[in-house]
Amino acid sequence: MRVAAVGDIHMGADSQGLLRPAFETLDDCADLLLLAGDLTRHGTPAEAEVVAREVRDLPVPVVAVLGNHDHHDERPEEVTAILQDAGVTVLEGTATVVECAGARVGIAGTKGFGGGFVGRSAGEFGEPVMKEFVRTTRRSADSLCAALKDLDGQDCAARIALTHFSPVADTLAGEPPEIHPFLGSYLLAEAIDTAGADLAIHGHAHLGSEHGMTAGGVRVRNVAQPVIRRAFNVYHLGGEG
Ligand SMILES: [Fe+2]
Ligand SMILES: [Fe+2]
Repeated sequence: MRVAAVGDIHMGADSQGLLRPAFETLDDCADLLLLAGDLTRHGTPAEAEVVAREVRDLPVPVVAVLGNHDHHDERPEEVTAILQDAGVTVLEGTATVVECAGARVGIAGTKGFGGGFVGRSAGEFGEPVMKEFVRTTRRSADSLCAALKDLDGQDCAARIALTHFSPVADTLAGEPPEIHPFLGSYLLAEAIDTAGADLAIHGHAHLGSEHGMTAGGVRVRNVAQPVIRRAFNVYHLGGEG
């Protein structure tokens, strides 16, 4: 099966129609479209409406997570509802199964959060706000793990973990090391490796690189649009490399 993915499209009032022509060709090259968060610039309902018009009635199913930008206006529920109204399945600590190319593919998603990577990570220690920072990531990772496990027994030919923040440092190559703790967390990779997945898709790291892998051997792809520099990339699952 063929999985199209892009993140960090950061749409605003002047973005309408930029991606629609490419998205309308999706059935030629992909079986579903994953959106890896930061779909808007500031998370306003008006920007969400731009995204909704861009992806409404596409020829393939669309599954998304929100990004930090989609939270900026502090109305993620409204952004989610607007996307859902356009037919997008929005995941947050949840999973969905999509029928595509005669097979079932399971997608578990969460926005994720920061904290850093092994050896250079924040811990649940000290001030309450610091503990809450790390606990926020841990809760997100736990929800991703549970959502992936929910896909067990659902006869999925493949399982995908979809996040906005990165589960690994590999795909941050190119980003200043000083900001790695704000770009992702190893807890997300632990969740993916514990529950198992065939592919992990994320965004957020605009200056990062596309290819990485978890310690457990799960392929990781950073699909932030400034990284992939196209409307979407297509990944093949199920023995096609
Ligand atoms: Fe972004
Ligand atoms: Fe982001």
